[in-house]
Order: sequence, then structure tokens, then C-alpha cells
Amino acid sequence: MVLNATKNLKQDHVLVNRLGRIAKKCSDLLYNNSDIPIEDIKILSMLIQEFVDKLHHGKEEKAYFPQMNEKDNFSEEIRKFLIEHELGRRIAKMLVQSLVSWEDGLDSRERVARFLKAYSVFISIHTEKEDLFFDLIEEKGSLSEEEHSQLIGHYKFCNSEVGGKVRVEQMIKLIGYLEEREWIKKDTNI
Ligand SMILES: [Fe+2]
Ligand SMILES: [Fe+2]
Repeated sequence: MVLNATKNLKQDHVLVNRLGRIAKKCSDLLYNNSDIPIEDIKILSMLIQEFVDKLHHGKEEKAYFPQMNEKDNFSEEIRKFLIEHELGRRIAKMLVQSLVSWEDGLDSRERVARFLKAYSVFISIHTEKEDLFFDLIEEKGSLSEEEHSQLIGHYKFCNSEVGGKVRVEQMIKLIGYLEEREWIKKDTNI
């Protein structure tokens, strides 16, 4: 069964929040001076930029929000979500910059830990607010069948912009890969 356009975004939120939890754990461990392979943090920051910022926020910005903008006075809410997306992108950019300087031999662990934490907080608050908004839209039945299928068509285009279906599946597998890494199982309350 194909999910409707709203449920599709809510399903993304489950994946996005798994990334948020990885970011939080990674941050806690860095603050605890645990060693984490920088390659894994680079995978995490790539997923934040490609999966969250480009694909998921892209689906919202290019398809879903423009469709909802004229309906039921949703525009104010949408405007706030768009501002939050920009905040997320700024944090992600600072994370990438501090990873680059870490790789250049500068001690940027604290900065990396700080931005990972900031991102995890941002994403959990942001998706929680959007989920309430999506629930309201579902309750009101604001989208017609036809609009749903049009939006699903737009989402396919967004998928192709990040490399297509196979690439998206690969990114989802990478979330699972990070969740299974040894370092993530370390206790942070020591
Ligand atoms: Fe969003
Ligand atoms: Fe979202």
C-alpha cells in the first residue's frame, strides 16, 4: 500500500529521529572523551545533510508546504517550520566545518559534540511540532485523494534529486549501520 502524502512525512520523522538519537549518543560520548571513528561521524553528518536537510525538508518545502499554504490558515505555522529548517541547516553546516578542522588536526571535538547535541535537540522539537500539525491536517481531511497522489509524485522527484530510490534505501541502511556500531553501545553514564 502506498502511504498518503502526510503519513509519508510522518514515516520520515521516525527515521529522522533515529538519526537525532544517534547524534545525541555521539555527542554524549565525545563529551565523555570516548573514541568514535571520525568516519562514522562523517556518515552521520552526510545523512543529516542529505537525508534530513535535502530529502525530507525538500519534500516539505517543495511539495507539501506549498500545497498546504493556501488552506485553512496554515501559512503562519508553515512559515515557522521554514525558519526552523534554516536553523537546522546552519547547525549542520557548522557541524561539517568543525569536522573538517578536526580532520585537519585541530582539537574540535568539543565543537563537534556541541553541534551534534544542538542538532539532536532541534530535530526532536521540530518533528514533534510538525507531527501535531500533520495530525491536525489528517483530522480535518485537508487533502483530497488527488492532492495526495500529486504530492507522492513530487516526492519521487525529490528522491531523484538526492540520487534516486536506491540511494535513499542505501541511506536508510546507513542509519541502521550506525545504530549497530560498537561505540554506540558504550555506556555514557560512567
Ligand atoms: Fe520540517
Ligand atoms: Fe518534517
